[in-house]
Amino acid sequence: MKTRTLPFKKPTVNGSILFPPGNVTEYIEKTEKKNSAWVYSKSIEDPKHISLKQKYDLFINGKWIKTNKYFDTINPSNEKVIAQVGYASVKDVDLAVKAAQKAYDKVWNRISPKERGKYIYRIARIIQEKAREFAVIESMDGGKPVKESKGIDVPLALAHFFYYAGWADKLDYAFPGKNVSSIGVAGQIIPWNFPLLMAAWKIAPALACGNTVVIKSAETTPLTLFKLAEVMQEAELPDGVVNIISGDGQTGSFIVNHPLTKKIAFTGSTEVGKIIMRQTAGTDKKLTLELGGKAANIIFEDAPIDAAIEGIISGIYFNQGHVCCAGSRLLVQESIKNIVFKKLTHRLKSLRVGDPLDKNTDVGAINSKMQLEKIKLLVKSGISEGAVIHQSECELPDKGYWFRPTFFTEVAQSHRIANEEIFGPVLSILTFRTPAEAVEKANNTFYGLSAGVWTDKGSKIFKTLSKIRAGVVWSNTYNKFNPASPFGGYKESGFGREGGRQGLEAYVK
Ligand code: NAI
Ligand code: MG
Repeated sequence: MKTRTLPFKKPTVNGSILFPPGNVTEYIEKTEKKNSAWVYSKSIEDPKHISLKQKYDLFINGKWIKTNKYFDTINPSNEKVIAQVGYASVKDVDLAVKAAQKAYDKVWNRISPKERGKYIYRIARIIQEKAREFAVIESMDGGKPVKESKGIDVPLALAHFFYYAGWADKLDYAFPGKNVSSIGVAGQIIPWNFPLLMAAWKIAPALACGNTVVIKSAETTPLTLFKLAEVMQEAELPDGVVNIISGDGQTGSFIVNHPLTKKIAFTGSTEVGKIIMRQTAGTDKKLTLELGGKAANIIFEDAPIDAAIEGIISGIYFNQGHVCCAGSRLLVQESIKNIVFKKLTHRLKSLRVGDPLDKNTDVGAINSKMQLEKIKLLVKSGISEGAVIHQSECELPDKGYWFRPTFFTEVAQSHRIANEEIFGPVLSILTFRTPAEAVEKANNTFYGLSAGVWTDKGSKIFKTLSKIRAGVVWSNTYNKFNPASPFGGYKESGFGREGGRQGLEAYVK
């Protein structure tokens, strides 16, 4: 009998050859020398399908209201101006808050909870229809990879609206035995790291509980909020129920100090959180603060190491580390230290840093020049305090704000990089010998927002979880969100919870 040999076929993905011609090992070695395991062709998200105005007025009482001053918002990946947005003055804030109060008194607090739910569902559905547009604009304005905005920011934002739309007519079930009512006008101030998502976290529960809103975007990322204003118009939300303005810290403080804002929700730096807390002390304003973090990601020796490496990567490098719950402190058990370093070093090489609109990009641009300076300053302190720096050697674009994925070894607990929030793609690695030492080190922080635990043993997970003082602890995964689970911190990470049934509490009395 004749033996037949099958013809060798190169593996393909969607018809294109996966391996380059020639010797594969040689190819990997060659490309590894260039510090990327694989060379990808660009796959740029076409920004032509989005519609953006060159100038955005303020969205007050359902209309676009002109103001005296405007400022530019730029694309941090190329430093080009995308649009101009209004700078809300004390007068504009007053106009917005009064419009919200009127809408509260005349409409929103009067219509049935079921009707409120219908509007919120409508908002969710319209965002869903415009998901791609929202994702591209988010990436252009803030620098995050479109993979992230498309896969995380936008779907989670609309999921929040869907989730809280469902609660609107079920508040009696959320608070059994209690007679809860809405508060009035909610003043909401959000940061630049998840603009649309933070807006959804704040607007959705506020509306579901019957409150009206004045929300301010962060200086560098106003655009998706103004697109959200267009959604509110399309949903025919009654005028004044949601007012969207842009401005800086001063605009924010006008919202906080306006006598008619009865509830303040803030996400941002601990420093500003403390100012707001002082300003609202002794007033009748309800307050929730979601501030910074310095999360410990703990890897025990029995952990699934490859999975843990991916958890570390998504916990600190995707999204440039611009995440309050970023796993920025890695605690590795001594016995697996070397293998973790080795695998991490290897994985770092394959992270693709560059154009946020390229669908292959893993790490995008740093959000602003100011943030880049802050990252550089802290990294410098790490070096001068004696930690050892390891960086990806990837090429960086000439224009824009970039920082190489970085990690530090030989980090001591006293180093600034082990204590301060860097908010960049920079990981500080510490080691431990026993579970007790891991917990002690994890809790040795002013913050208490989140943490991660990697181990094969369920009992070890539960034992560790019960001792870690953090609002969210992931086990054998990292940075996973769901609108049904509450999120928030302990200690200097703030107080109050957003998301879930608990997230309603902040918006009722
Ligand atoms: P920030 O706290 O100054 O800004 C956040 C928001 O608060 C912005 O909308 C800003 O306009 C507003 N704001 C500023 N001062 C205010 C005031 N006195 N009253 C009311 N609102 C005010 O944060 P920034 O300067 O953008 O970033 C600084 C650091 O904060 C980052 O490097 C990072 O470490 C941390 N941060 C933490 C975030 C988180 O999600 N927890 C988000 C953004 C920044
Ligand atoms: Mg911008």
